[in-house]
Amino acid sequence: MFGNKALKSTLFISMLTLAGLTLSLQANAACDLVSTKDNSPLKIKVADTDSADAKTFLATCKNPYTAKYAADAEAAKAGRKVMTLNGCTGCHGGNLGGLMAPSLVKNGGTGAFDTKWVYAKDATDRGMFETIAMGTPGTSGGVMSTWHAQLDNHVGDGLSTDEILKAVAYIRTVYKGDGEKTWLK
Ligand code: HEC
Repeated sequence: MFGNKALKSTLFISMLTLAGLTLSLQANAACDLVSTKDNSPLKIKVADTDSADAKTFLATCKNPYTAKYAADAEAAKAGRKVMTLNGCTGCHGGNLGGLMAPSLVKNGGTGAFDTKWVYAKDATDRGMFETIAMGTPGTSGGVMSTWHAQLDNHVGDGLSTDEILKAVAYIRTVYKGDGEKTWLK
């Protein structure tokens, strides 16, 4: 009697696990990310702790925070917080206008790369996520390190998918250009 019950619940749990696995595999398959650093596939998995928005991104390559922050300056502060807490502003400048790293705003700085994205793919949320997640090869003269917590050799504790998406959406609220730095595609 006991054995039968235990077997049933084990089966039930296995079925749940299988369903969960199928779901996360599907989510991964939908948005195939590629490293900006070396064009290798970026294997970012859905984590149990991921927000619904992070899961949406990994399934669709669309960053839900971008529209939310564009409509709500108060909400966008969460993205700014990710950037100040993790030292992004230390290199890119407090107003993201460029410092020892390229500007992330239109005509922010005076460097060779400060009137356009160093990496043209940063015009899309997906591309900018790829740039921040694994870092860069150094086209502008400096290299940016790997940030995503799931990737090897990341900075400090690393950032979650959610935190990177928030940073990207915040950058979009600061850069509203129509110049050489192409706006969100
Ligand atoms: C130690 C300095 C440093 C820190 C800290 C840093 N970056 Fe960078 N970042 C750079 C450099 C240098 C580049 C240019 C890389 C290149 O040319 O390959 C860059 C490039 C970028 C780009 C691409 C810009 C373009 O024009 O295509 C983005 C986006 C970016 N960083 C976002 C961030 C975010 C978000 C953080 C914080 C999580 C961050 N950076 C932290 C140095 C830094």
